[in-house]
Amino acid sequence: MAPTDTVTLTPLSAHTGVEVTGVDLSKPVDGEVQARLNKAFVDHSVLVLRDQNLTPHQMLDAVKLFGEVFQQHNTKFALPECPLIHYISNQDKYEDGTRYIPGAGYHTDHSNAVAPPKATVLLAIELPSSGGDTQYVNLQEAYDGLPEETKRRIDGLKAVQVYQNSHSTRKLTGLTVAAKASVSDSVIHPIVRTHPESGRKGLYINPIRIENIIGMDNSEALPLLDELLAHATQDKYQYYHKWRVGDLAMWDNRCLLHKANADYSMDEMRYLYRVMLQGDAPY
Ligand code: SIN
Repeated sequence: MAPTDTVTLTPLSAHTGVEVTGVDLSKPVDGEVQARLNKAFVDHSVLVLRDQNLTPHQMLDAVKLFGEVFQQHNTKFALPECPLIHYISNQDKYEDGTRYIPGAGYHTDHSNAVAPPKATVLLAIELPSSGGDTQYVNLQEAYDGLPEETKRRIDGLKAVQVYQNSHSTRKLTGLTVAAKASVSDSVIHPIVRTHPESGRKGLYINPIRIENIIGMDNSEALPLLDELLAHATQDKYQYYHKWRVGDLAMWDNRCLLHKANADYSMDEMRYLYRVMLQGDAPY
């Protein structure tokens, strides 16, 4: 068991990300360390535990330190030996034979669920020699940086979210029949969300899933959403995670956007395990 005093926490940027060393998730973790890690997750939004050498079953056990597992939509990416753990790979193809890079556009995970996952966790198994960072956008910092007039304009607005909206330029892979049955047709979530643990407000936008804003024509809503996205994705709100094999990174979908970068040779493999944790209905 890791004694509390061997655990180190080092911020990875001014607003997002913290590196954790001195914890081996293949071994039992005591309650004090568990509480520190959960607090660090809420405080820093991306928790990166280095040097984790875990089987899928060990990963599944480890993430239960942070919450309950959330069933991911697309079961075709489930690992046969441990189906609650999925994989991310750069070697899969769309139905038309072109390469599929999962998550290659800004998004927050499964925001079309009534209670979307609070966290997504990836474990890096094989990585390209350079590139392939995951790019995070801190939506609480972005909200704080909005002009007061924009804050007033978006206060109380609610959006309809679907699996894939009719105006998105990003393609998703088709869902299996079982997955389709488990996905809600549409849900309504606020554009500004209060974090249930920190109480901090942040934008809650998702370019691929927001179909419309209630009570607003799309001729006004889509430019507004584009404006919010352009504001939020300024460099000053971003953190790029440079992966190392053995990194277990867990991010907070309640206050971040993220995207995968396909800026490396596709002759090289990028392969990670993936699991999500249950969250609350946004408010
Ligand atoms: C994801 O969007 O879940 C994947 C992110 C990544 O592969 O970097």
